[in-house]
Amino acid sequence: MKTVESAVIGVVGAGAMGRGIAQLFAQSGHRVLLHDAAPGAAIAAQASVADAIGKLADKGKITREAFDDTLARLRPVASLAELAPADVVIEAIIEDLAVKKRLFAELESLVAPDAVLVSNTSSLSVTAIASACRHPERVAGYHFFNPVPLMKVVEVIRGARTASATVETLLALTRRTGHAPVIAQDAPGFLINHAGRGYGTEALKLVGEGVTDPYTVDRIMREQVNFGGAGFKLGPFELLDLTGLDVSHPVMESIYRQFYDEPRFRPSALAAQRVAGGLLGRKTGEGFYRHEAGQQVAIPEADLPALAGPAPFARVWVAPGPQRSALCELVAALGAPLDNHDAPGADSLVLIAPLGIDATAAVSEAHLPAERSIAIDTLFPFGAKACRRRVLMSTPATDPVLALAAQRLFMADGARASLLRDSTGFVAQRIVAMMVAVSCEIAQQRIADPADIDLAVRLGLGYPMGPLSMGDALGAATVAQVLTGIQSVTADPRYRPSLWLRRRAQLGLSLLHSD
Ligand SMILES: NC(=O)c1ccc[n+]([C@@H]2O[C@H](COP(=O)([O-])OP(=O)(O)OC[C@H]3O[C@@H](n4cnc5c(N)ncnc54)[C@H](O)[C@@H]3O)[C@@H](O)[C@H]2O)c1
Repeated sequence: MKTVESAVIGVVGAGAMGRGIAQLFAQSGHRVLLHDAAPGAAIAAQASVADAIGKLADKGKITREAFDDTLARLRPVASLAELAPADVVIEAIIEDLAVKKRLFAELESLVAPDAVLVSNTSSLSVTAIASACRHPERVAGYHFFNPVPLMKVVEVIRGARTASATVETLLALTRRTGHAPVIAQDAPGFLINHAGRGYGTEALKLVGEGVTDPYTVDRIMREQVNFGGAGFKLGPFELLDLTGLDVSHPVMESIYRQFYDEPRFRPSALAAQRVAGGLLGRKTGEGFYRHEAGQQVAIPEADLPALAGPAPFARVWVAPGPQRSALCELVAALGAPLDNHDAPGADSLVLIAPLGIDATAAVSEAHLPAERSIAIDTLFPFGAKACRRRVLMSTPATDPVLALAAQRLFMADGARASLLRDSTGFVAQRIVAMMVAVSCEIAQQRIADPADIDLAVRLGLGYPMGPLSMGDALGAATVAQVLTGIQSVTADPRYRPSLWLRRRAQLGLSLLHSD
């Protein structure tokens, strides 16, 4: 290859991904040769690219000249042999290892000795694909996301035998397109699909455990979680419905198995049942939500029933802890009298703020009356006017009338309040801590640099902040405390903190700190 600027790009496979990749490189000034084994498919893809960039020209986003030049640079070719002049060949065919290996061996016999061969595989081992080549050092993964022109991140995947020069070529090539390249080692799920495991997997675990329903989990993740003013745009179940459980569940199973039954990725029996039942999400019209004409049907939040009979508590007693004074302030702002005695009075509601442990463990440790106790999640802003949703949790012994009265109290300033059954780490503590834990483990295993992990996740998954920055925002020690607490109550190794997290928490370092 003479220069990256003048590189001719070959694309094999003109499906959803191949046509997007062809468009991206043609728009960035490269000559693109597009081939598909299905007769007519490459020409159909060319027409679809013309349509896509035609819309951009109509909206004035690109000039007519740019439209003409882009189309002139994109040439469908009928045979694989016509890819011979390509400096970089990007494969985007069917996700089948044997078929991809055959193609790579054939491509290697066609192209120049210094040409680079890359695969857009989302789940196969790049090292295994490269093993079909005589020169595996020129083979890498090049993982785009759908739709390619809009998803501005690309994973450059280094197989066990990929040369650094191959990686450098791909980084330079990607930068010319305006997309952000991130480097990941060849590991199951690479970077983004690996880092994305925490969100949906822990949400399914919560619902599988009977803590609450999917709609409440979604509301909490959208409205309680707050990183610098932003939360998640979609709840985990909304996201599962959008992607389709037939896609998400096998990815969860595959990553779990490929890491030899790593408990952090243990999939949910609930998801398997729903796949079997065809409740896949938007594509089948019904998933966790119903979908009409491609739109998710909203589930309105039920109004709380009125309280019958006398008020179940006269005052609120707030248990000692780091948030006590802020909670007392909130209770006073909501108009409830405080019980300021050392121990709760017989007619007081007992308010606790556990971190990582469940309400049952918290009241048992402090010898508090379970039937009058309610837990509140204080990991995210909960003060008067500062939050949209507060999250409460009862013990199995808590009086349901008292729990309802508490829920009403914490809505007195217009915020919403969700009431959960007992859970180690409510909803948000658990899900966010697991997301941080998974990304810390990616950093620990040197699959990617911490800065690349955060960049890739923000661009690829649309989270409000990269997961390592989320951990820093909450405090590494706090996240480690949540995980250790959950692990101690549940005895489930799923929640063990990654060494990356534990060491940075102990040393007071940022989770983005690399050594
Ligand atoms: N769709 C996504 O969201 C997505 C995202 C990232 C990566 N990927 C990966 O990209 C690849 C392509 O996915 P897609 O969604 O574009 O698939 P697709 O089914 O839309 O297109 C695949 C195309 O490859 C062609 N093809 C199959 N075998 C071929 C061969 N031997 N030689 C030449 N052409 C052949 C088919 O005719 C078809 O046009 C897969 O490896 C997939 O895992 C997909």
